[in-house]
Amino acid sequence: MALSAEGIIAGYVPDLPILTDVGIAVPRGSVTVIIGPNGAGKSTLIKAITGLVKVSAGRITHESADITGIRPDQLAGQGVAYVPQMDNIFRTLTIRQNLDLALRNAGPDTALRLEELYARFPPLAEKRHEKAGALSGGQRQFLAVAMALASRPSLILMDEPSAGLSPKAAQEVLECARGLTEQGVTILLVEQNVKQALRLADHCYILAEGRNQIDGPAADLLCDPVVGEIYLGAKRARAS
Ligand SMILES: Nc1ncnc2c1ncn2[C@@H]1O[C@H](COP(=O)(O)OP(=O)(O)OP(=O)(O)O)[C@@H](O)[C@H]1O
Ligand SMILES: [Mg+2]
Repeated sequence: MALSAEGIIAGYVPDLPILTDVGIAVPRGSVTVIIGPNGAGKSTLIKAITGLVKVSAGRITHESADITGIRPDQLAGQGVAYVPQMDNIFRTLTIRQNLDLALRNAGPDTALRLEELYARFPPLAEKRHEKAGALSGGQRQFLAVAMALASRPSLILMDEPSAGLSPKAAQEVLECARGLTEQGVTILLVEQNVKQALRLADHCYILAEGRNQIDGPAADLLCDPVVGEIYLGAKRARAS
């Protein structure tokens, strides 16, 4: 497994766990998606994995290295990158300045990696001198992904990268995530666009109230009547 978490108990305040005995296993080279209602603990799980929330019990491993309780600044060294749900770019800086910040530890590789990122995301290259805040929502997410890629991670955790985007832009961002797996990167994704995410992902975990609910191959859950009723139906009702 690229990533596994077992028996995770974690929260923001001592003795008030948000996650109770949560476990996930993310196969290498997969897109694994976590879905669940608002407040389910999806972001908390990502933050527990990335050392931003204290883990009081359980074990997290990345490529069989124990990373439980890792400091966020040690993540890149472990080959893990994190794209947060909010504030994942610096809007008042230019695209180039954002990428320079992400590449600050790349050493002699810096220029090469910058060119690689521009080649992968041509709209970012074109707008390199513009403020990141002026980008479209989709392009901002691509910038956030580019910043995550700067450290050449083997695992990227993305928290709702398609939130607030048009269906087309959301699809592009999800397809970008899928494309990264073709280069051997493993993706763990939190998503609210359940149908789109299930169509694209390999595996899915459903969390609710800080606990594991259902998990399995994404294609199976897409056809599962219970999942359909709770998640796909609910989404349609909200959208209408
Ligand atoms: N910084 C915080 N301090 C205290 N409690 C928090 C904090 N952040 C989140 N929580 C609580 O933890 C629970 C889980 O929140 P979390 O953000 O993990 O949910 P989520 O599944 O990511 O929801 P959403 O779909 O809205 O992003 C919620 O009850 C929330 O109020
Ligand atoms: Mg969240």
